[in-house]
Amino acid sequence: MINFWSYKNEYINYRPKLLNFFDRTLKSGQIFFGKKLTVFEKNFVKKYKSKYGVAVGSGTDALLISLMALGIKKGDEVITAANTAIPTISAIVNSGAIPKLVDIDENYLIDKSKIKKSINKKTKAIIPVHLYGKACDIVHIQKIAKSYNIPIIEDCAQAQGAKLNNRFVGTIGDFGCFSFYPTKILGGYSDGGFILTNNFKYYQKIKNIRFYGIDTVNKKNKFYNKYYSNINGVNSRLDEVNSAILDFKLKKIETYIKKRRLIANIYDKELKNTKLKLPNRTKNSFDVFHLYTVFHPKRDIIIKELFKKNIQTRIIYPYPIHQMNGYKKYFQKKRFKNSEINLKEYFLYHYILN
Ligand SMILES: Cc1ncc(COP(=O)(O)O)c(C=O)c1O
Repeated sequence: MINFWSYKNEYINYRPKLLNFFDRTLKSGQIFFGKKLTVFEKNFVKKYKSKYGVAVGSGTDALLISLMALGIKKGDEVITAANTAIPTISAIVNSGAIPKLVDIDENYLIDKSKIKKSINKKTKAIIPVHLYGKACDIVHIQKIAKSYNIPIIEDCAQAQGAKLNNRFVGTIGDFGCFSFYPTKILGGYSDGGFILTNNFKYYQKIKNIRFYGIDTVNKKNKFYNKYYSNINGVNSRLDEVNSAILDFKLKKIETYIKKRRLIANIYDKELKNTKLKLPNRTKNSFDVFHLYTVFHPKRDIIIKELFKKNIQTRIIYPYPIHQMNGYKKYFQKKRFKNSEINLKEYFLYHYILN
């Protein structure tokens, strides 16, 4: 069977290195907040030419902590894409805000032409989601947001390394949030996430919030690192072993992305004469293909046939978020037509990793 996804090949290749990271870290006596984390944070920030960055426990936490840093409170509204993954919405809800959905465009990304209509006095943030490895038109979205003085949190969980007009996603909005869940472009061997920002005030806040709100930035503060909270926080740490693994893999990220793009080109070429709808390629967009998504109204038959040939595919989000029991109360039976069609028809192609 050709699996949809598996880390096993990578593990076989990297095993001596990974076991060494584990051994050396445990021997060092420092499991959290040590050298490996500091080095990884520095390298990640440098790679994406951002000013500041903080590693956290997951991509969901990255979003939640960014929202907390903005001081989001109960009753505020946060705009995002109707076809996003559950965690984008759960982060919004856990921050106390109400999620406001905007339908998607022909690239399966938030429809920028519909954002303005959803903005009102309660709107306190916009979270564009760079889904499946493709960048939203973040420059245009930022223009809209700036004209209303609304901050942007980029959800880059599926798009690390993607670019628009040669600029990396996660470096254009006020915050860029990344996930190191094992299936992601930079996948760890546990949960993990990252927040990039160019704003020192936000940096201070996110760094403190990730560690119970304790000041770990301002050395002149009399409470610096004194186990004293100045702000409500969470516990969201990236451990030393995973920091070392992610730093090692970060050095190879261009190779991973090159391979994904190469495979996507092969799929494009080989599937071009079928009735499958293939991913749109757009000018100025450097896509990293976290997933290669293809669409067909009769997807279930195709999935079964491929399975008979030992090829696994997967429907990643079979239900629209606005119709799920956990979240539907926020959307008052509103419909998001393009997202619903998108979720009903698409399935994912098997993907090869790293
Ligand atoms: C679009 C999107 N946002 C956020 C997340 C959350 O990341 P994590 O699983 O690391 O919490 C994911 C991961 O599945 C995602 O796909």
